[in-house]
Amino acid sequence: MELRSDFLIIGSGIAALRAVPEVAGHGDVLILTKGGPEEGNTGPAPGGLAAAVGPGDTPQAHAADTIAAGDGLCDARAVEVLVEDGPRFVRELISWGVRFDRAPNGELALAMEAAHSARRVLHAHDATGREIGRVLWERASRLPRVRTQDHARVIDLVLDQGRCVGARFLTGNGEWATALARTVLLATGGAGQVYHETTNPHVATGDGIAMAYRAGAAVIDLEFVQFHPTALMVEGQPRFLLSEALRGEGAQLVNASGEPFMTRYEAAGDLAPRDRVSRAIVRESRRTNQPVYLSLAQLDPDFVHQRFPLISGMCRRAGLDLARDRIPVGPAAHYVMGGVQTDLDGRTTIPGLFAAGEVACTGVHGANRLASNSLLEGLVFGARAGCAMREECAGGVTLPSHVPTASSGTKAGRLTADPIELTRMMWQDVGLFRDRDGLTRALAALEPAWKQLDSMLAERRVLDAQDWRTASIVTVGRLIAGGALRREESRGGHYRADFPDRDDVHWKKRVSEKKT
Ligand code: FAD
Ligand code: SIN
Repeated sequence: MELRSDFLIIGSGIAALRAVPEVAGHGDVLILTKGGPEEGNTGPAPGGLAAAVGPGDTPQAHAADTIAAGDGLCDARAVEVLVEDGPRFVRELISWGVRFDRAPNGELALAMEAAHSARRVLHAHDATGREIGRVLWERASRLPRVRTQDHARVIDLVLDQGRCVGARFLTGNGEWATALARTVLLATGGAGQVYHETTNPHVATGDGIAMAYRAGAAVIDLEFVQFHPTALMVEGQPRFLLSEALRGEGAQLVNASGEPFMTRYEAAGDLAPRDRVSRAIVRESRRTNQPVYLSLAQLDPDFVHQRFPLISGMCRRAGLDLARDRIPVGPAAHYVMGGVQTDLDGRTTIPGLFAAGEVACTGVHGANRLASNSLLEGLVFGARAGCAMREECAGGVTLPSHVPTASSGTKAGRLTADPIELTRMMWQDVGLFRDRDGLTRALAALEPAWKQLDSMLAERRVLDAQDWRTASIVTVGRLIAGGALRREESRGGHYRADFPDRDDVHWKKRVSEKKT
């Protein structure tokens, strides 16, 4: 099967869906998405969307907090775009029908989250991502000449004379298909599934980073992974996120004796930046040899259940009462700051290929993302990428009439690596606490799998969907581990136990790389 369109959008999260209105009406739009349209990191985002819309708040204050969290590596221009444009995008979402929570006086209700200097997080109870996704999806579906194909797992980008002109994908029936387009947007989201412990859903295997890297695009900052401190740690339950907004409302981390412990490790206590809270949890757990808990006992139970209905329901399913019980929590891989290198309009280093959202890296988050800046990033940079794609097409880019779309070979191949083992090793050796020995061990374990993948692709072996999942884990895992070994300092989400200090003399720089 060969499909043709003007704009190919890969993914159906916030970045993809905010790009769509910019291109719709200017040509045929095809959205390919791996699972159902709502699957991805946007839907489960509970906490909210940060924007300087509150009384007394300013984009400058939002920028200062973003840059402080980014630990010296934010791209100041990207931050300026994000915070200056943020309020406009919030107003637009409201005008499109997003129902953010409001205070009794009708003003937007704004939550506090870690490392913010003001209450600036807009929310829709604890289902903010779902509410935004709902509205963007309804809007995109009504726009002219927009088609969606779900259960379409994009595997590879199609290049013609150095320009990206489409992508190959596996349909839900396991058939190969090609989608050719004048411009292509990668909006495939994050890579949390590269780690055994993660808040991310099944689809978040970093496919976009892997396929862009294999196609020769530059990727950058991949050593910077954010580990969220408070995932539910109940045996047999998914690592459901206990939003930072809970601590914003007064929830406290306590040890097994019920003692609050965060100030022992961090002056900012429970609302210190995420990476610090995550490491403090592990240290306290090691010190006491006991789990760590989140306690909401000091809050009004009615308020808790009303403000956080989804989280409350999820805890109930795990046999816990969010308002009364101590909830066992621990860190889990949550967000990848690095990704496919782009400019401020989503252009990657491959002509015709754009990227936006979590898969992309503009440098807006530096070494660590400020809470609730990611939904905003998806809106702002998704829209900018859509505009740039529209302009590029208006400039007369045409699709060649014949594109040699390397059809897949016929010989089957099987990757021998065990993906579960690899994700365990990533968690153990490339997680919260890293050092040279662990990172070297991880790279040595990943290298044979990478070589096998590389030679299978060179021989045009046919892999199945499961092996493509493993391929992404191997590719992205190797990039994260390689970057982490190279960076001999600690900064933001990247902590080297053997280089525990930030080293601005040698490492106040971002490192990008391409496949050689
Ligand atoms: P996604 O929403 O992840 O969408 C990616 C899309 O690409 C999906 O449709 C997926 O199916 C598709 N896809 C992936 N691979 C392929 C492929 N090979 N072929 C075709 N399609 C593919 N950020 C905040 O700002 N506030 C929050 O409160 C917040 N809470 C969060 C809570 C959780 C549990 C998680 C996991 C993240 C949270 N984040 C939050 C981060 C934020 O939600 C994400 O970074 C953001 O939603 C990413 O949007 P996106 O459009 O880039 O990607
Ligand atoms: C949370 O609500 O704790 C997650 C927010 C985010 O990832 O920005």
